[in-house]
Amino acid sequence: MKARIGWLPGDGVGPEVLREARRVLEVIASEQNHEFEFAEADIGGVAIERHGEPLPKATQDICLSSDAVFLGAVGDPKYDHLPPGKKCENGLLDLRKLLGNYANLRPVTVFEALVDSSPLRRDSVRGVDLIIVRELLGGIYFGSPRGIEETQAFNTEIYTRDEVRRIARVAFKLARHRRRRVTSVDKANVLESSVLWRETCGEVAKQFPDVAFQSMYVDNCAMQLIAKPAQFDVIVTNNMFGDILSDEASMLAGSLGLLPSASIGGKIGLYEPVHGSAPDIAGKGIANPLGAISSAAMLLEHSLELPREATKLERAILKVLSRGYRTPDLKSRTSREKSKERIVSTKEMGELVCDYIRMPDAT
Ligand code: IPM
Ligand code: MN
Repeated sequence: MKARIGWLPGDGVGPEVLREARRVLEVIASEQNHEFEFAEADIGGVAIERHGEPLPKATQDICLSSDAVFLGAVGDPKYDHLPPGKKCENGLLDLRKLLGNYANLRPVTVFEALVDSSPLRRDSVRGVDLIIVRELLGGIYFGSPRGIEETQAFNTEIYTRDEVRRIARVAFKLARHRRRRVTSVDKANVLESSVLWRETCGEVAKQFPDVAFQSMYVDNCAMQLIAKPAQFDVIVTNNMFGDILSDEASMLAGSLGLLPSASIGGKIGLYEPVHGSAPDIAGKGIANPLGAISSAAMLLEHSLELPREATKLERAILKVLSRGYRTPDLKSRTSREKSKERIVSTKEMGELVCDYIRMPDAT
């Protein structure tokens, strides 16, 4: 098949990890006779630098004329002084809005090879396989009024029933392809917006009698994710809670650098690693490209409808990890695994994944 992918490396480690994701997609294309075109454009700090704004019109046009969009990261301390609305981060927030992607899928899978990379005990993280379904276009991120005055500042957490219903449906439908358990996370003991969230998710749950449903307060969920993470299958929550809980949950897997994400709901899906621009390690060749590479697998599955290719890619990642290859963020915390580890660079990790994709399945 032919596909055009909007390619937005962005800031910090973004370009480094995207280089590897691209290497991998190119191998998939040549192995399976697909033609992928990568349409590059600027977003975030690099876009502010070159065009004076974080999401220039040219970038918007490229994204809107692509079959899917792939993004590295946005965020540059150089522009931290800019007011909300004009920051690097607005490039991403505006892009999500532009594409209408209200559902952000963030899977967290603990690979057997990495149980010792998690700071948590191996018996608590073993077998964890959950997915956070984060509402992406509403809540306190976008609610108005918002503002900052001399002595006070304010934001508004607001959700309509329709917004909650559509994200809840995504979660329940997804659960049907998994272990059929949905946990909705809110703060309904304090916030009205959460009362509506809880009620609405409860109503949607009735349309999915085959899926087990519970609601949980966000503070409790933050604790349960550490205490007993394997209990979760699908977690559905609002924009801000989803942002926070997904960073927390990433440590179950060993590193934020591993986590992929897909933002769907509109016509054009947006794929990006969950990690940020990590300016402290940018340019050193040590960033973990696996979050980006796994996001490429999500792109193959969700936007290009190439599930076989996606599986091939995921298997290659598993093989590379089980052979002991690690970027520095994945260093094992126990001596048991340390002896088998081989620390590699960003580029080497990308090349290893390519090598394993090229190998016949039996290896
Ligand atoms: C994320 C990021 C973004 C968010 C920032 C960069 C705007 O933290 O994708 O999780 O808060 O959504
Ligand atoms: Mn985040």
